[in-house]
Amino acid sequence: FAFATKSKSVATMAANQEFTGNLKRQLEKLFDVSVKATAPDVPGVKPLIDIGKFGDYQCNNAMGIWAKIKGKGTQFKSPLAVGQALMTSVPASEMVESCSVAGPGFVNVVLSAKWMAKSIENMLIDGIDTWAPAPPVKRAVVDFSSPNIAKEMHVGHLRSTIIGDTIARMLEFSKVEVLRRNHVGDWGTQFGMLIEYLFEKFPDTDSVTETAIGDLQAFYKESKSKFDSDPVFKEKAQQAVVRLQGGDPIYRKAWAKICEISRTEFAMVYKRLRVELEEKGESFYNPYIPSVIEELNSKGLVEESEGARVIFLEGFNIPLMVVKSDGGFNYASTDLTALWYRLNEEKAEWIIYVTDVGQQQHFNMFFKAARKAGWLPESDKTYPRVDHVGFGLVVGEDKKRFRTRSTDVVRLVDLLDEAKTRSKTALIERGKDKEWTPEKLDQTAEAVGYGAVKYADLKNNRTTNYQFSFDEMLNDKGDTAVYLLYAHARISSIITKSGKDIDELKKTGKLALDHEGERALALHLLRFAETVEEACTTLLPSVLCAYLYELSNRYTTFYSNCQVIGSPEETSRLLLCEATAIVMRKCFHLLGITPVYKI
Ligand code: ARG
Repeated sequence: FAFATKSKSVATMAANQEFTGNLKRQLEKLFDVSVKATAPDVPGVKPLIDIGKFGDYQCNNAMGIWAKIKGKGTQFKSPLAVGQALMTSVPASEMVESCSVAGPGFVNVVLSAKWMAKSIENMLIDGIDTWAPAPPVKRAVVDFSSPNIAKEMHVGHLRSTIIGDTIARMLEFSKVEVLRRNHVGDWGTQFGMLIEYLFEKFPDTDSVTETAIGDLQAFYKESKSKFDSDPVFKEKAQQAVVRLQGGDPIYRKAWAKICEISRTEFAMVYKRLRVELEEKGESFYNPYIPSVIEELNSKGLVEESEGARVIFLEGFNIPLMVVKSDGGFNYASTDLTALWYRLNEEKAEWIIYVTDVGQQQHFNMFFKAARKAGWLPESDKTYPRVDHVGFGLVVGEDKKRFRTRSTDVVRLVDLLDEAKTRSKTALIERGKDKEWTPEKLDQTAEAVGYGAVKYADLKNNRTTNYQFSFDEMLNDKGDTAVYLLYAHARISSIITKSGKDIDELKKTGKLALDHEGERALALHLLRFAETVEEACTTLLPSVLCAYLYELSNRYTTFYSNCQVIGSPEETSRLLLCEATAIVMRKCFHLLGITPVYKI
């Protein structure tokens, strides 16, 4: 799977080495020429370009080519000689300053500082969107957050919301149309007991309000215990399910009411996090299930097993149940149908599901069933494509499943509010309440507090468990959103302090990268696009976080070695500050974090 660089043909590239937004890809194109020239008889060799140990980048093809040609009458005597040939046949390019060969044939590439400077100047004029990757899909579905009606929206759903939003944002930045889907659990047998309990507690259902029911989770628990202990109630609840599924208007209405109340609670979380989602819950797909199961059946996939209807899949010791023995549908029937809908009705080419790793088997199974049905290509890297983005548990400081205080469930709204309150307290300790208006104090507390929660989650490799700690995430030192937001604010204030009109400077000013600190920072800036591409390809937001943290470290090194204001290089260095601030803000944007300009 490779993203294409922005639409410029190789021919124009050779003549005009303008930065296409992705250094790695651009070097691959150059080395493609040299690989073909060096080993014309070895077909299908792809240029291997990596960040270099000695140069800025390195080409690692020599060993592989050597392995294929040695002992076959080749003119080359060693991998080193292959490396030398690779080096000499690289087409001349403005972007490359020099190449050298090291060890067993690695070609080190040093980029031209002049070209790097020019590329950043261009970005300052044309905007950072010119550095966006271009994935080969037009439309994608990101299925994320997806809590269950009347049940707890837990920290797992919070992770899904944060990770899914970032993936959606990265794809949107890459000009993919993203359908942000909230696949809420709003259907199933539990609604029978919920509705019946609602009727019992509030005979006048129409007037039931959110406040009357109060805590929907407690309501769920009460109705569940009644269901388990009272056989008459249980019987009624089971009939309620039949009525609901049969479309009885009174039951539908009660169901809608329960959904509505849950939705208000979910919305409070989304509002704080500023996450946009479009709800298409499980119930939406319900009418389509029978025909989808019929299609799978007609393809010979569905078999009878102990009264249920199942699909047997190689590599799994249990079959995928698609119709329960009582004739009802389940999680898998809905997911298969939703997949069918997304592929055929919504014409999505990439469908991404964000849930905890515990659901991996479920996804692998219905993905496999879809491949068997011919809905998806055999190779999981070809489009239309599906991916399960799994993540680990959230644990508390005691390494156990995360809880706050004494309550056994964590209300997400309370958790987010606590992050905000803590960051506000820290701002007040720094005397900001005297300096700022209450609105500004509040906005900054939100940006920092919610930003901290998001970043602390996103920076970990998502597949591992992650330890939730307010103290750690709100620390203003180390790899935290607080540190990064402050770093950005400091850069902004340097630009302001200079008294220069930065937008004017962008148009006319020239960038020079003579100092090592300037060059190292610039190189990292130019790696932004390939980083976003990698984060999209691997579906790992942590890749972008690591990039952002390194950016701020390189900025610090630059700033402590290179005087900006009042130096002869002031214009150039202000432009470098501005470019850094722009890239940082884009990273924040992609991570769903609101930037702060003043601290
Ligand atoms: N509602 C499910 C849960 O809370 C997550 C749904 C994920 N999406 C999907 N298409 N299965 O675990």
